[in-house]
Amino acid sequence: MKIGIVGAGNIGALLARKFAAAGHSVKLSNSRGPDSLADAVRGTSVRAVSNEDAPKDVDVVILSVPFAKNPDVAKLLANAPSDAIVVDTSNYYPARDGTIAEVDAGKPETVWVSEQVERPLVKAWNAILSQTLAEAGTATGTANRIAIPIAGDDAAAKKAVAELMDISGFDTVDAGTLAESWRFQPGTPAYCTELTTEELALALADASKDQAPKNRDAIMQAIASGKVEFTRHGLASNNRVMSA
Ligand SMILES: NC(=O)c1ccc[n+]([C@@H]2O[C@H](COP(=O)([O-])OP(=O)(O)OC[C@H]3O[C@@H](n4cnc5c(N)ncnc54)[C@H](OP(=O)(O)O)[C@@H]3O)[C@@H](O)[C@H]2O)c1
Repeated sequence: MKIGIVGAGNIGALLARKFAAAGHSVKLSNSRGPDSLADAVRGTSVRAVSNEDAPKDVDVVILSVPFAKNPDVAKLLANAPSDAIVVDTSNYYPARDGTIAEVDAGKPETVWVSEQVERPLVKAWNAILSQTLAEAGTATGTANRIAIPIAGDDAAAKKAVAELMDISGFDTVDAGTLAESWRFQPGTPAYCTELTTEELALALADASKDQAPKNRDAIMQAIASGKVEFTRHGLASNNRVMSA
């Protein structure tokens, strides 16, 4: 597959390296330009490119920028083929991203992003800690493999993203349409809790739309006050307790 990734932080750069290692053709961009990506692409086949180039002539575009920056990258999608699959990895944290009234009022985050970028989206890799993505991927078929939720309105697009999820080291649970994607936003039991396929399906069903933002803010407060061990296991187990 030909993949263009806009956003080369914890998530975007890691995904780029994983897909390139599996033989895919990967381009990666960030806000500062390709020269700033020398370290990120060293020793890989990932091509550091401009934002304008990243979505050109690819099968999949992955947007992996801070939530409130999605409107800034919308115009880049004019460079993407009209049938390219577009993926959103972002999460909304109002304390970090600024408040967005429509999302606060209950619009699912990726529905809002989809409106901003004026493309259908698949939501994926948002509900995994970057440390989990870096350390906990396993081969297809591994017992108790961690599963990650995705959502979207196009079954073929979700199938392609599930293949990439597998390459990234994780099983996929299809959480439904984009309208259902609030089920794995921050503060839900499915969000960054390192569950197996069976556990994740139950967690998605258990999600509460009203409770999730309250859990999200309580978790951020607990982290800020030093009450949570800032490790992969500390964060994931705290999420399991505070989002239950
Ligand atoms: N960290 C996690 O554990 C995690 C897990 C799942 C999902 N997410 C979500 O995934 C998204 C990315 O997270 P992250 O941790 O990878 O973020 P990050 O480390 O802060 O990286 C963000 C990237 O976006 C780039 N960027 C910002 N504005 C841009 C623009 N206008 N055009 C192009 N690139 C732009 C930045 O460019 P520069 O490098 O030039 O600054 C940077 O490479 C966020 O929405 C986050 O909420 C994060």
